[in-house]
Amino acid sequence: MDHKLTPDYWNERYRQGYVGWDLGAVSHPMKVIIDRLEDRSIKILVPGAGNGFEVSYLWQRGFSNVHILDWAESPLQQFAERNPEFPEDQMIQKDFFQLNGQFDLILEQTFFCALNPSLRSSYVSKMYDLLNSGGRIQGVLFDAPMLIDRPPFGGNEEEYRGLFEPYFEIEYLRRPQRSEPERVELEFSFLKK
Ligand SMILES: C[S@@+](CC[C@H](N)C(=O)[O-])C[C@H]1O[C@@H](n2cnc3c(N)ncnc32)[C@H](O)[C@@H]1O
Repeated sequence: MDHKLTPDYWNERYRQGYVGWDLGAVSHPMKVIIDRLEDRSIKILVPGAGNGFEVSYLWQRGFSNVHILDWAESPLQQFAERNPEFPEDQMIQKDFFQLNGQFDLILEQTFFCALNPSLRSSYVSKMYDLLNSGGRIQGVLFDAPMLIDRPPFGGNEEEYRGLFEPYFEIEYLRRPQRSEPERVELEFSFLKK
C-alpha cells in the first residue's frame, strides 16, 4: 500500500480531478476554529493542505504568518494562482516528515487520514517537534473506520487519545457543532505538553 502514497500518486489525483475530499471552500468546522482565533500574528502551519482553502481563509482574515505545505506540486500551483498575493516563501512543497521549523498552531484536516496508519505515531511526534512550547494542533479527525486498504483511513476517540495523550493535553475532542454533510468527525484541540 505504502508504495502508492507518494507525491506522484497524490499529484496525479489532483491532475485527474479525483479529489473527493476537496470541499472547494473552507469547511464548517475549520471556519469555526479559525473564527475563534484572536491573535493574527501567530505562526500557523497547514500540512497536507492540498488546495488549501482554509489557508486562503486565514490569509484573507489577516493571518499573515500562515504556511501551506503539501508534497504534491499541482494543488500548490492552483493555490498560488488563486492567491497571487500569498508569499512564495510561505508555500512549502515538501514531505511533512522532512520539515523543520517551529509553529504556534498547526491545523489538521484530512491529512492524518491520508497517511499510512503505520505513520501515526511518527505524525504525533513530528507534530510535537514542530510546535513551540504553548503551541497546539487543532482541527478535525474522522470518527469512523473508513477504508482499510487506501485513504481515507479512519479512527476513533479511544485511538486518538492513546496516540496523542503522551505528548499533548487534550483540551477537547468532541463532535463539531456543525459537520460537513456525510462526514462523521471529531473536532479537537491538543496543547503541547
Ligand atoms: C486527502 S488530501 C487532503 C487535502 C486537504 N487537507 C483538504 O482537506 O482538502 C491529503 C493531502 O496530503 C498530502 N500529503 C500526503 N502525504 C504527505 C506528506 N508526507 N507530506 C506532505 N503532504 C502529504 C497529499 O498530497 C494531499 O494533498
